[in-house]
Amino acid sequence: MSIKEGTEDVNRESAGKDDVTILAIESSCDETAAAVVRNGREVLSNIISSQIALHTIYGGVVPEIASRKHVEKMNGCIRAALDEAKVTLDDIDAVAVTYGPGLVGALLVGVSEAKAISFAKNKPLIGVHHIEGHISANFIENKDLEPPFVCLVVSGGHSHLVVVKDYGEYEIIGQTRDDAAGEAFDKVARAIGLGYPGGPKMDAAAKNGNPDAFTFPQARIPGAEYDFSFSGLKSAVLNLINQARMQGQELDQADVAASFQKAVTEVLVGHAIKACREFGYDKLAIAGGVASNSGLRALMEKECAANNIKYYRPSPVLCTDNAAMIGAAAYYEYMKGVRFGLDMNAVPNLPLGDRERRYHGRNS
Ligand code: KG4
Ligand code: ZN
Repeated sequence: MSIKEGTEDVNRESAGKDDVTILAIESSCDETAAAVVRNGREVLSNIISSQIALHTIYGGVVPEIASRKHVEKMNGCIRAALDEAKVTLDDIDAVAVTYGPGLVGALLVGVSEAKAISFAKNKPLIGVHHIEGHISANFIENKDLEPPFVCLVVSGGHSHLVVVKDYGEYEIIGQTRDDAAGEAFDKVARAIGLGYPGGPKMDAAAKNGNPDAFTFPQARIPGAEYDFSFSGLKSAVLNLINQARMQGQELDQADVAASFQKAVTEVLVGHAIKACREFGYDKLAIAGGVASNSGLRALMEKECAANNIKYYRPSPVLCTDNAAMIGAAAYYEYMKGVRFGLDMNAVPNLPLGDRERRYHGRNS
């Protein structure tokens, strides 16, 4: 994959222009999304076509169905995003797309679409890391937020504690050893009969439950104090359910959801606050689908206030998958002169924050 960074030519492209308008595309999982973003922080349109209803009957995302749906929906989403932003493909300065991590077939739909637009309209092409996108969602509504800051990224596939050192520069200080936080929410939701999509249903159920009804384990990993582990917690819930079944007792779904949510959010918030204090950061952001969890948002707000840390969070719609966040991340890459070649490929396990590996195949 060829990726250029900061060459004279590309820097000249962005020079002398006041505004940078980027068409962004996201298709890494089960949302087909397109957005038009100006100067990284102004969202002119943000179109999201969710496949949740389609996957619900299977109890989770079916990759092949997701890819096919992306193919069906992609052009319509892009057309709607351009129309709502009142721009045409000729008006945009670049096309950006999530190229990893994610489901390979799903990613390939967005990547192929972005490459086709880049080729047909002779526009610069920028590949974006999905998690960089989630982190950058914080820039959209918080115009004052600048690196460095700590960010807790919690989605269906990732639970990372990251120091955002600069735009596009990340240091991972903690990550999950097993399940991602969203994955744990989804699995427990299924186990207690709430079904898919688990996270939002657990959040809603928890509102009517007693968070102190059950005490679930909160894993701390010796020697890796910022890492997470949710598999023990998940097993504890499953054991509780089995025990209740054997004794012919009925568990209160809301109480289990509230107690589980409390255990997860206390660990997430505890680690994030500790990292800020330990490393001397006074700004903390949250990102990813689980960042839309009302319990997490409330506890983080309380703890940040108690520790004099400025707290940033995107609106829930910008926490879950969307293309506006991809446009925000792409802007800072664009300004650095990063350009991808038409040999861009989907990278299902793309690592975060490792510039050497991220820029593998770089040809200048
Ligand atoms: O970021 P995202 O939309 O997609 C990935 O990149 O994975 O995150 C999806 C995850 C799912 O596991 C979903 O259950 C979880 O985020 N999620 C939530 C909530 N909304 C979405 N988890 C807890 N509470 C929520 N309100
Ligand atoms: Zn995501």
